Amino acid sequence: MTQRLRLGVNIDHVATIRNARGGDHPDPVRAAEIVARCGGDGITAHLREDRRHIRDDDLARIQAATDLPLNLEMAATDEMLEIALRHRPHAACIVPERREERTTEGGLDAAGQHNRLAPIVSRLADAGIRVSLFIAPEERQIEAALLLGAPVVELHTGEYAHATGEQVEGELRRLADMAALAAKNGIEPHAGHGLTYDNVLAVAAIPQLAELNIGHYLVGEAVFVGLEAAVVRMRELMDLAR
Ligand code: PXP
Repeated sequence: MTQRLRLGVNIDHVATIRNARGGDHPDPVRAAEIVARCGGDGITAHLREDRRHIRDDDLARIQAATDLPLNLEMAATDEMLEIALRHRPHAACIVPERREERTTEGGLDAAGQHNRLAPIVSRLADAGIRVSLFIAPEERQIEAALLLGAPVVELHTGEYAHATGEQVEGELRRLADMAALAAKNGIEPHAGHGLTYDNVLAVAAIPQLAELNIGHYLVGEAVFVGLEAAVVRMRELMDLAR
């Protein structure tokens, strides 16, 4: 039997809606509480350099409000390292960040940035934070993650999510092969980005994957059916795939 696939819910876009009006509503902490009640396995939040959604004070409030593990997505900067060491989330997922992008559009170049990443990975690890690298499903990035000693990689599913026609199979194969390669090398593979009710099944069926992180689609669905129903439906689909 394959292991249970964990669902980390990325609540950033609840904060995006809040920030559109500059007040306190809707509160991402309330979203975290709902996720905790309805079968989510973790909360994922990205504190971006420009604070466009999650803000510094949200992190402590999320940690205080639920016992679910917090997965902090962060750029590999000294500022974010300092914040991560202060908050000590369960996990830190290092992501590439460009101010002008709408979301995290590509994977981290773990291979090209070894020297920049190495001290950050080791300081996070020394603090007991589980480090994950958000990488494209490429062999050289898995090798780089291995070299950096990262216990987890999150495979970027954006190319798969945007693929059409025959490309879909190819992208899926890449994800499956790289999940298998990571697992074979003792790295726990996760996946995320652009996952929806329609495309999650094939990814969730990849047996080595231990966790999916899903955000934008769930918050979008929540507008129509509520966050609890959206998370429960995603959970059902993930379980169906296993
Ligand atoms: N995982 C990581 C590392 C991400 O950066 C994001 C997007 O912020 C997600 C998962 C979730 O992607 P989406 O919001 O498209 O579901």
